[in-house]
Amino acid sequence: MSRLIVVSNRVSVPKARGAAGSQGGLAVALGSALRERRGIWFGWSGKETETYTGDINMQKNDGVTTATIDLEAQDVDEYYNGYANRTLWPLFHYRIDLAEYETGFGKGYERVNKRFADSLGPLIEPEDMVWVHDYHLLPLGSRLRERGNKNKIGFFLHIPWPPRNLLVALPFHERLVLTMLDYDLIGFQDEESVDSFLGYCRKELQADVREDGTVTYDGRSVKVAAFPIGLDYDEFLEGGQSGEARQAEQRMRSSSRHRKVIIGVDRLDYSKGLPERFDALGRFFDTYPDRVAQTLYVQIAPPSRQDVVSYQRIRNTLEQKAGQINGERSEVDMVPIRYVNKGYPRQALFGIYRSAHVGLVTPLRDGMNLVAKEYVAAQDPEDPGVLVLSRFAGAAEQLKDALLVNPYSLEETSEAIRTALDMPLEERKARWEKLNEVIKTSTVEQWRSDFVEALSA
Ligand code: UDP
Ligand code: G6P
Repeated sequence: MSRLIVVSNRVSVPKARGAAGSQGGLAVALGSALRERRGIWFGWSGKETETYTGDINMQKNDGVTTATIDLEAQDVDEYYNGYANRTLWPLFHYRIDLAEYETGFGKGYERVNKRFADSLGPLIEPEDMVWVHDYHLLPLGSRLRERGNKNKIGFFLHIPWPPRNLLVALPFHERLVLTMLDYDLIGFQDEESVDSFLGYCRKELQADVREDGTVTYDGRSVKVAAFPIGLDYDEFLEGGQSGEARQAEQRMRSSSRHRKVIIGVDRLDYSKGLPERFDALGRFFDTYPDRVAQTLYVQIAPPSRQDVVSYQRIRNTLEQKAGQINGERSEVDMVPIRYVNKGYPRQALFGIYRSAHVGLVTPLRDGMNLVAKEYVAAQDPEDPGVLVLSRFAGAAEQLKDALLVNPYSLEETSEAIRTALDMPLEERKARWEKLNEVIKTSTVEQWRSDFVEALSA
């Protein structure tokens, strides 16, 4: 069997399964996918050095071989904080108002992608397959081709691909998309992203776009399709049997006493719709004042990308909102919101999800959202909680039996919270069974094998 070389900006293999972190969906999924197959995971170590050396650090952890390089401070600034997280991330999440562009960002992005290609290239053997991940590395395939790598190279985007009329606001958008045509296969989380990408190729590039998703342009051909990512379902459920999961569930149940728990778990990111969610909760408490004493909202929000100003701002906004909601509605022995700025290991999250009557997942835009799937998988089949899910999460294309809401509408979200809290057992079970069936069958293993099979074809 040929080796699989996985490349992503962040390489993070937990020391033990389910170890702590706010690593995000990509790292969780790739850690699982790679354990199943011989290969290498290549990327940035997360470390910053004064000058770039290109030295590769190889390690074997929990069955996965990682190869990492350090980046110099200017790279981190221009490529990671700059182009990836101040230009592409906001634009791809439809936040053109937050997107910034500086010439140095573009240069840094090009430089680091070239550095990745120069370090990784010599490690690739002729029979290997290369699988590049996420918005940090859109041009990597093209850089590898330039240095002569003829392997199958695929790309998967973990975040949404924006509609054409948003993308054209990006300086040099055409150059960026053209580099992507050097891949053999491009995967997106959902059909909406596939349609947006193909629409761009058709209208901006005048490329030949076929019904089956093949784009042909200037003698190059690339296949484009949706590959929705899933959970390592068995591993997640196994983690739910651990002492840590049980203890976390017990702690939540005893500390919430007779109140019904609503849970939110999100990296502290403006794409997750947290201010809107807090406002919707405020609306819910105002509309149904007797519910204040009967409900507890727990928001776990580990800080993310703290060097970027828009992330510092969202953190301040949320502190202010949580403080206000609690200040106005608390009693000496009761607060309606517990707002926690730290990450938990996924085994503990399992127990926390399980203790919650409602999972509130309301991003304004999200590639997939694994938290929504984890919440469902962690429920007790005999007495399951209810998932309230934004229609703008990639997961909404699959999880149609959740209570789907428009997160911009405080009223709709507030009413969905009430409906979820009051839902009769029969309906909760019926919805949960359908949701769980989807999550159990569309696993991370399925995602990996579908993508790799399509890439080898
Ligand atoms: N996560 C975690 N600890 C936390 C918060 C989140 O391990 O305190 C994990 C969570 O279980 C999920 C991932 O991080 O597997 C988040 O993925 P998701 O797709 O929901 O969002 P992303 O952070 O990738 O935007
Ligand atoms: C999302 C992105 C990942 C990223 C993660 C955490 O899941 O799709 O590429 O790794 O967020 O963000 P960070 O900037 O800390 O890597």
